Amino acid sequence: MTSALTSTRPAVTVDGVSVTFGNAKRGTAVRAVDGVSFNVEKGEIFGVIGESGSGKSTLGRAMVCLLTPSGGTILHDDVNPFTLTRRELNRHRRKYQIVSQDPNAAFDPRMTILQSVMEPLNIAGEGTRAERRARAFAMLDRVALSPELANRYPHELSGGQKQRANIARALMLEPNVIVCDEVVAALDVSIQADMLNLFDRLQKELGLTYVFISHDLRVVSHISDRVAVMYFGKIVEFGPAREVIETPLHPYTEALRSAEPEITALGEARKRIILQGEIPSAINPPSGCRFHTRCPRMRDICRAQEPEQRELLPGRHVACHFAEEMLRESAAEHVGLTDRSVVATTTAPGVLT
Ligand SMILES: Nc1ncnc2c1ncn2[C@@H]1O[C@H](COP(=O)(O)OP(=O)(O)O)[C@@H](O)[C@H]1O
Ligand code: SF4
Ligand SMILES: [Mg+2]
Repeated sequence: MTSALTSTRPAVTVDGVSVTFGNAKRGTAVRAVDGVSFNVEKGEIFGVIGESGSGKSTLGRAMVCLLTPSGGTILHDDVNPFTLTRRELNRHRRKYQIVSQDPNAAFDPRMTILQSVMEPLNIAGEGTRAERRARAFAMLDRVALSPELANRYPHELSGGQKQRANIARALMLEPNVIVCDEVVAALDVSIQADMLNLFDRLQKELGLTYVFISHDLRVVSHISDRVAVMYFGKIVEFGPAREVIETPLHPYTEALRSAEPEITALGEARKRIILQGEIPSAINPPSGCRFHTRCPRMRDICRAQEPEQRELLPGRHVACHFAEEMLRESAAEHVGLTDRSVVATTTAPGVLT
């Protein structure tokens, strides 16, 4: 077996993975994740964006073995965790953690913050009690929580403080990969940026790999190296975060982005695309392209035929029949933008810096 430190394999390989809930015979099967494939490289922040119900949490939970895929393969480095014995899996899972939106769910209200942060070490049987306490205090310091909060109970902390303690707890067993599932969604907008900066700093200091899940394009664009866009269990587009967000090649990404004008390239004003049409049923998804019931670019072929995912530009994967058309439009638009900035520089020198 190759050492995780020296291997050049991705941190996580997701190959044709599906997760189904319910019962097909009773007609209640929901394919929450449907044949998705991508790699998460070591040390990167891989964002996953999509509306509520698109399958992000299900995918994240499968990636850390909290759910078993109904199809496809997940590899952690070169290990298939689903082939391990229960005992081996318990040990292996320490290196693959998940931090979720609701920190309350991670804490026992009867335990102090220090006890909760120490708990993973107690369960793993690591070190003496004094060593575990020292490691927990060091971790609270790393996430910028004052030691005075260590003996408080969860209800005595603010939402932001609780989420910091939650992160400290997830880091105690020195994981390789952390799935961060809507980790700032429950926090005030005023402290979201601080929390994102903390995640960013910890990733750099500890050489972590993140899968950063959010329904909020601003959050994902702030932190991610690459981003995957999910719609109804499928990945419709993925690639370098900046490119995907600034020049989307899928109509769904384009619509998500148009709802966030402050993200747009070069401060240009963009027309907002309001998605219309029926939101599909998870039990009975639309034929052809799943987005066809809401897509402003939909044509006849979209109802009949599911688009194949293909690599349109190096590292940019898209599943839309008309992605090439969007690529041409986007290239033309960039020429237009360049021209506009040239005009501005020549007619109003000194305005542009
Ligand atoms: N435990 C479950 N049992 C049945 N259906 C579920 C379960 N968890 C999620 N689902 C369904 O799977 C789909 C994807 O859900 P989820 O992964 O939570 O999406 P997201 O995180 O993007 O909001 C939804 O239709 C949801 O209702
Ligand atoms: S395949 Fe058709 S319906 Fe689907 S995203 Fe592309 S244009 Fe829209
Ligand atoms: Mg979710």
